[in-house]
Amino acid sequence: VEVAPDTPAIESDRGKLQQIFLNIINNALAAVADGGHLTIGARPESTQGINLRFMDNGCGIPAEDLHRIFEPFFSTKTGQGGTGLGLSITYNLVHEIGGTIKVASEVGVGTCFTITLPLRAEKAKETAHAGIVGR
Ligand SMILES: Nc1ncnc2c1ncn2[C@@H]1O[C@H](COP(=O)(O)OP(=O)(O)O)[C@@H](O)[C@H]1O
Ligand SMILES: [Mg+2]
Repeated sequence: VEVAPDTPAIESDRGKLQQIFLNIINNALAAVADGGHLTIGARPESTQGINLRFMDNGCGIPAEDLHRIFEPFFSTKTGQGGTGLGLSITYNLVHEIGGTIKVASEVGVGTCFTITLPLRAEKAKETAHAGIVGR
C-alpha cells in the first residue's frame, strides 16, 4: 500500500467503501498467481478528492472483454463460483458516493482499476440509494 503523504482524509459511506474494496481486491487476488503482487496506491486528485489505484500483475483482461466487465453477469469464472455481479455492483456504488471508476488491462501483464472519490460523498445520491427518490 502506497499512500502519498499529502493524501487528504475523505468523508464517505463506510459500508459502500467496504463493498467496493472487497470486490476489487478479491478479483485481483483471484487473477494473480502465487507470488503475484497487488499494489494499492492513494494520492490527491486535484483539490477535489482522492485517486485510488489497485494494480495487480495477474492474468489481465482481453481487449474484447474490457468493455463488458462492469455489465451484470459478465464473468469468466463460470463454474468457479463467479457471479459476474461484483463489478456491476461496484460501479453503481462508486457512482452513488460521487466517484468514478476506470480500468486498464493487458493480458499477461496485469490490471489497474482507478477510482476517484470526492472529499465528501454526495448527499443527493445517498438519499436516492436510501429509497426515498428512485432506485
Ligand atoms: N483484476 C482482474 N484481473 C483479471 N480479470 C479481472 C479482474 N477483475 C475483474 N476481472 C474480470 O472481470 C470479470 C467480472 O468481474 P466480477 O463482476 O467481479 O465477477 P466475478 O468475479 O464474479 O466473475 C471477471 O470474471 C474477470 O474476467
Ligand atoms: Mg468478482
